[in-house]
Amino acid sequence: MFIIFEGIDGSGLTTQSKILSTHLEKKGNKVFLTKEPTNNPIGKIIRDILKGSYKLDQETLALLFAADRSMHMDSIKKELKDSFVICDRYYFSNFAYQMLQIDLDHLIQINSRFLKPDLTIFLDVPAEICKKRIDENREHIEIFEHQETLEKIRENYLKIIESFKKKGFNIVKIDGNRSIEETHAAVAACVEKFLE
Ligand code: ADP
Ligand code: TYD
Repeated sequence: MFIIFEGIDGSGLTTQSKILSTHLEKKGNKVFLTKEPTNNPIGKIIRDILKGSYKLDQETLALLFAADRSMHMDSIKKELKDSFVICDRYYFSNFAYQMLQIDLDHLIQINSRFLKPDLTIFLDVPAEICKKRIDENREHIEIFEHQETLEKIRENYLKIIESFKKKGFNIVKIDGNRSIEETHAAVAACVEKFLE
């Protein structure tokens, strides 16, 4: 089963994907926990750009995210044969973030050959709260980590979720503006309901 976590920066994607992973392992499942951007060479280039080390046009950045995902596909497909795959961000990030500057149809097209997730969990947290979490916990602020930008990206996610639900995607919006434990309980309940 291919499960994706999506949300704006600071919404708890890394935290919740790790806890869900441990939860499923404790129940006796094999789990492959992964993330995008990856640690592959293209992912490393992306991380340098996100830190602001050098500037790049948005079209090329959008394609780099898709290229990184393309490299990621092989390992995801292999792992899916006998494991749950939990991915911290996938192509919905490409849509919600890059549509700030790039046409959504083009973004959908460059991601059209990638595997459809079984379940996507969108952790919904207001931008203001996310910004506070980021400021309290990070040394470096990345290019998207400004409150106004995060607000726009959250709005983009909400639009995308509605339109992809209509296309038959399983996307669940979960309130992530509560404690880590409460959010995890809601995530675990959602996954268990889906597995029934
Ligand atoms: P993301 O991967 O979405 O950027 P993280 O999981 O890294 O987010 O969380 C960002 C920061 O907020 C971390 O320091 C984390 O410990 C903290 N955090 C995560 N979830 C919560 C929560 N529910 N309440 C308060 N702080 C949280
Ligand atoms: P993030 O999960 O924040 O990495 P880390 O927690 O290690 O800093 O992801 C990096 C950033 O990249 C985040 O701001 C979202 C953005 N992003 C895109 O803009 N497009 C994409 O396709 C992906 C996968 C991520």
